[in-house]
Amino acid sequence: MKEKIAALNAEILAFIPINSEQLEAFRIQYLGKKGRIQDLFADFKNLAPELRKETGVLLNDLKNNAQHKLDEYKDSFQSTTTEKAATDLSMPADFLTLGSRHPLSVMRNEIISIFSRIGFVVSEGPEIEDDWHNFSALNFPPEHPARDMQDTFFIEKSADKGDIALRTHTSSVQVRMMENNKPPIRAIFPGRVFRNEAISARAHCIFHQVEGLYIDKNVSFADLKQTLLYFAKEMFGENTSIRLRPSYFPFTEPSAEMDISCSICGGKGCNICKYTGWVEILGCGMVDPNVLDNCGIDSKAYTGFAFGMGIERITMLRYGIRDLRLFFENDVRFLKQFEGAL
Ligand code: PHE
Repeated sequence: MKEKIAALNAEILAFIPINSEQLEAFRIQYLGKKGRIQDLFADFKNLAPELRKETGVLLNDLKNNAQHKLDEYKDSFQSTTTEKAATDLSMPADFLTLGSRHPLSVMRNEIISIFSRIGFVVSEGPEIEDDWHNFSALNFPPEHPARDMQDTFFIEKSADKGDIALRTHTSSVQVRMMENNKPPIRAIFPGRVFRNEAISARAHCIFHQVEGLYIDKNVSFADLKQTLLYFAKEMFGENTSIRLRPSYFPFTEPSAEMDISCSICGGKGCNICKYTGWVEILGCGMVDPNVLDNCGIDSKAYTGFAFGMGIERITMLRYGIRDLRLFFENDVRFLKQFEGAL
């Protein structure tokens, strides 16, 4: 009998229920009226009197242990049972509103990814700039009409650093990059820029640019052209062609504007490309030697190219968006369309 009690005791002590059903089965098996402990009490009656005292103590301990186990777990399952009742799994789930990335962020990320695949790093700079970084270092002479090309928001007159203004392009970050790094330099500069322009379907006073800069020994216009062709094909598809037209920027010489074959009509002619088959997407050129020298890079040893594009324009062409103002109005019906985009 002693062995039986010890074996049962070991079973009871080792028992760990994982739910209330198991606990109830345990109760019936050990403590029920026809349970195993009750059976032992029945055997106990037939026991020789001299053995009764010792065995009685063991038997009572056994019963107490079983009861203790039951009490110990009863409470823990009671609370889960009520919780369970509250979580009715057949109830409809709460509606979870997921946000989505802004289309301009989606495109910025894609542009960064395209250029990072050919070794361009990303660099950023301040939105409030001094005259030197936004204009003078970039070869805009004082009082030069080219400064009027970019309707500047001035913030403060400052005698030592020149006027303080909201940057009109991220070329200012190119200057900072050249001042602080030695060639080879291969970087792109995404960021927000500001121009005092009337707001319309095609223009805004705040918009976003990505500019790029590559400086090394023997960098040529051919390198510029191949880099931009690679970009155009990655962004608008393998069949995209590019066209470079001569242009003017104070900081590049020669300068060009780049068109792509219209991504909307495939070059056949539509109202986006004004029936020309081409749309302009960026400005570019070879970095003017004056700019290199201004930024502490030896223009006799190094050459480089630069380019700059508006993210809004790229996004409009990629998604066929006709009005630039949509990017800034935060109309959820518009923004929701980009759910799931990276
Ligand atoms: N900074 C020019 C602009 O904002 C774009 C550009 C960048 C042109 C680099 C040429 C080279 O219009």
